[in-house]
Formats: sequence, structure tokens, C-alpha cells
Amino acid sequence: MVPEELINFLRKAKKVSVLTGAGISAESGIPTFRGEDGLWKKYRAEELATPQAFAKDPVLVWEWYNWRREIIGKAKPNMGHITIAKWEKIFPSFWVITQNIDGLHRLAGSKNIVELHGNIWKVRCTREGIVMENRDVPLKEIPPKCENCGALLRPHVVWFGESLSIEDIEMAEEISNSSDVMFVVGTSSVVYPAASLPFLTKRRGGIVVEINISETTLTPYADFFFKGKAGEILPEIDSRLNG
Ligand code: OAD
Repeated sequence: MVPEELINFLRKAKKVSVLTGAGISAESGIPTFRGEDGLWKKYRAEELATPQAFAKDPVLVWEWYNWRREIIGKAKPNMGHITIAKWEKIFPSFWVITQNIDGLHRLAGSKNIVELHGNIWKVRCTREGIVMENRDVPLKEIPPKCENCGALLRPHVVWFGESLSIEDIEMAEEISNSSDVMFVVGTSSVVYPAASLPFLTKRRGGIVVEINISETTLTPYADFFFKGKAGEILPEIDSRLNG
């Protein structure tokens, strides 16, 4: 049931944004991080997703990313991603800020995207810092090496203990600071700075709409909370809005 009040806010909204997390890709078959079947239940983040882990055992880290690339490479955008891509054409200003590295928003057709935690299909030279696209599944060699200088390549993603790119976080803050409505979809809202963004929207008088299969630390502060799957709730809101 989509409240009429939300539809009225959306009809008036000029600037709309969506902050997404692993939950939006769950229906595409990509595991989330927390929760019962989450990756951090089976694997230790500090052994796989930190600069120290990579320095200690680049083969282990790359094997884990190779495995994730195999899963993500087979995944297709679901109705959640597709609805979000559609909304870019409907609202005067529309941005996706995602913590996901899977690239599914782009595959669904979204163009205005800030990838806060990087992209699994990009690699970075550890010596020169050059970022390259690499879509090999499986990787040709583990660990992969830079074709220019032979140095080790690393995934172009943000690991624990690393800073986000200044441009990305500034962009995300600017979007959040000017959103009339921000949707927060499929994130546990525990990882910062992403988790702070909805509060920027609230501070400027915007509306925060949360969609998640369970309540989170953000839920008490959300203006609207939809308990359910992103791939079902987003199309439901869309059909009320455009039906
Ligand atoms: P989490 O795994 O922490 O949270 C996923 C959220 O999605 C949970 O709150 C679930 O309840 C919800 N969820 C699951 N399936 C859903 C569905 N079909 N529809 C709607 N919601 C659903 O993932 P993130 O919040 O994205 O960072 O995690 C944030 C960051 O922590 C990740 O980017 C990653 C991780 O460690 C790094 O690796 C730096």
C-alpha cells in the first residue's frame, strides 16, 4: 500500500535520489554482506577486504574477487534496478548513489550514478595508480599484472580502512544536500559515510523513504518505511506514480 502523501511529494519533487546497498542486488542472485547468508558470515572482512590483507596475500584476495566476478558476471538487473533507471527519465534531476560494486545500475540503464565503493570490473595499477576496465571472467592470471609496467593490479574498490574518493563523496553530499526525496534501498545503513547521507537530505527538509526487508538503524528516522523486497516495492510505487 503506497500512501497518497508520498505520491504527492513525488509529483512535486524536482530533485530525487536513491541510495542503494547490497539488498537491491539480492534478487539478482548476488549475496549481501550482513544477515544470515551474508558474505561477512562466511568470510572475514579483514582477511579479504583490507589493504593489509592484499599486501599479505594478493592471490587469496584476487581469488575471492574472481569468485565474486563469476557471480556478478552472470547476474542481470532486476525490477528494482530497472524501475530506478526508468525514474531517471521522469524526474527533472535524478541520481543514484550506490555502495554496490556490481555495475547493475548501469546495466539497467541508469547514467547518473556515483559508485561510492568503486566497481568490480575496474582494476588499478598499484604502482602507477592507472584505472583500467577488466571484464575477464575468470581472470587470465591471478594475481593480474599491469600490462604497462608489470606491477600488481588491485581491484578498483574501496576496502575497509581506505578513504572514499574525494570527488565521489563530495558529489554524493551535494546530491543528498539538495534532494527533495531520497530513497534508501537495500542497505543496512551501518557503513559510513554512506549511512550519513540520508541525514543531509532530512536536514535540508527533504523526505527519506526507506525500502528494506527488515528494519535498520535508519528506520526510526525515515519518513516512510516500506518493509519488503526492492524488486517488488519500487515497481509498486512506480505504478501508483505513473499508472
Ligand atoms: P548489507 O549486507 O550490510 O545490507 C543489505 C541490506 O539489504 C540489509 O539491510 C537487508 O535487510 C537488505 N535486503 C536484503 N534483501 C533485500 C531485498 N530483496 N530488498 C530490499 N532489501 C533487502 O549491505 P550494505 O548496506 O550495502 O563495503 O553494506 C554496506 C557496505 O558494507 C558494502 O558496500 C560493503 C560492505 O562491507 C565494502 O566492502 C567497503
